[in-house]
Amino acid sequence: MPHLDASTVVIENLRRIATLAGESLVGDLAIGVRNGRVRFAGLRRDLPPEFGAAVRHDAGGRLLTPGLIDCHTHPAFVHARADEWDLKLNGVTYEEIAAGGGGILASTRHVREAGNDALAQATLRNLSALKAHGVVVAECKSGYGLSLEHELRQLRAIAWAGDEAEIFTIGTCLAAHSLPAERRGSVELREQYLREVCTEILPQAARSGLAKRADIFCERGVFSVEEARSIGLAAKACGLAVTIHADQLSHSGGARLAAELGAQSADHLEFVDALDIAAMKSAGTAAVLLPGSTFFLRQNDWAPARGMIDAGLCVALATDFNPGSSPICNPAFIMHLAVTRLGLTPNQCLRAFSVNAARALGLDATQWGVVQTGSRAAFAIWDVEQEAELPYYAGSNLCAGVITCRGWRD
Ligand code: NIG
Ligand code: FE
Repeated sequence: MPHLDASTVVIENLRRIATLAGESLVGDLAIGVRNGRVRFAGLRRDLPPEFGAAVRHDAGGRLLTPGLIDCHTHPAFVHARADEWDLKLNGVTYEEIAAGGGGILASTRHVREAGNDALAQATLRNLSALKAHGVVVAECKSGYGLSLEHELRQLRAIAWAGDEAEIFTIGTCLAAHSLPAERRGSVELREQYLREVCTEILPQAARSGLAKRADIFCERGVFSVEEARSIGLAAKACGLAVTIHADQLSHSGGARLAAELGAQSADHLEFVDALDIAAMKSAGTAAVLLPGSTFFLRQNDWAPARGMIDAGLCVALATDFNPGSSPICNPAFIMHLAVTRLGLTPNQCLRAFSVNAARALGLDATQWGVVQTGSRAAFAIWDVEQEAELPYYAGSNLCAGVITCRGWRD
């Protein structure tokens, strides 16, 4: 489905609109767009006359939702890691693979060996896969470069691929994803890398404009709370928002640190407790849940999502699309896991992939992840009758396409 390169557009023949800004609309519906923003959403017969000469798009009598917002992805990877999967299926853990130089370090070798074109094309392939499943906004992490040069190459590939794919990308520098191979073996080398992250990589990623956020993998065997704290403070000092891979494999203190730093979000959260949740609530830190990785890693610990919702946290879902723990580019399947494993309702799932994901990224939730006057003209069209069916058809791609209109990202 198209990018409509016109300033005035009508999308018509819609049967249902999930606005995420109140009740869903039903009937013979239309949306009127001017200069990349929604100006009208309602019954076709009420379309204002100013849309008389608009470019028209027939949506085939389908359901329309806001284009989905995937607020946690790692799309700048070049190769799959199916070889490791074989090890994992034979009982070797994710952490054991990482300790042996595989995992994130394997993807780092692939990125460093790839030319700029190959990296950019691979990133485009991955973002296009997300878009084919309804995604229009993707938060995209680096983290397979692990040096100034290669982290910036990844962030450049992300920016280029977002433009090519007509996706709004938010770059996040994840230099603190792992200690690179060449900085292992002594405390001095470790400290050198931490210094490089804080004084070179993050400041340059911020200055280039390619990254708006910094992420840190705070986990046993990766970066400690103390290390993550100094990286987070350095990120804030150069104007980057902070997010943390927190409490994914153990109760490692990442969520509590995210709250302390005033992070936009803490992500994963399989091992958090009630005190962590309370700290996130008072700090206004969103919870980004990634059940795709819990599922793919065959963990038995699912994030305590109900407790988070009951505590009033902003709960978002994301694919965590990456070659190691979640090679899953289908938000509807993540919604299925969220319903069946985390106890979310189908409506909470759609909210978690739209307006709540916008909030988790610090985007204006009156414009992003909703369909209402003034919202961004980026939509997903679905081959189902109502939004509850998105998680229901586990694993199918029900997205008939994404529609974007000229100027929607500006
Ligand atoms: O979100 N936990 C750390 N990072 C990713 C996995 C990255 C990889 O294995 O390549 C995650 O699970
Ligand atoms: Fe991740």
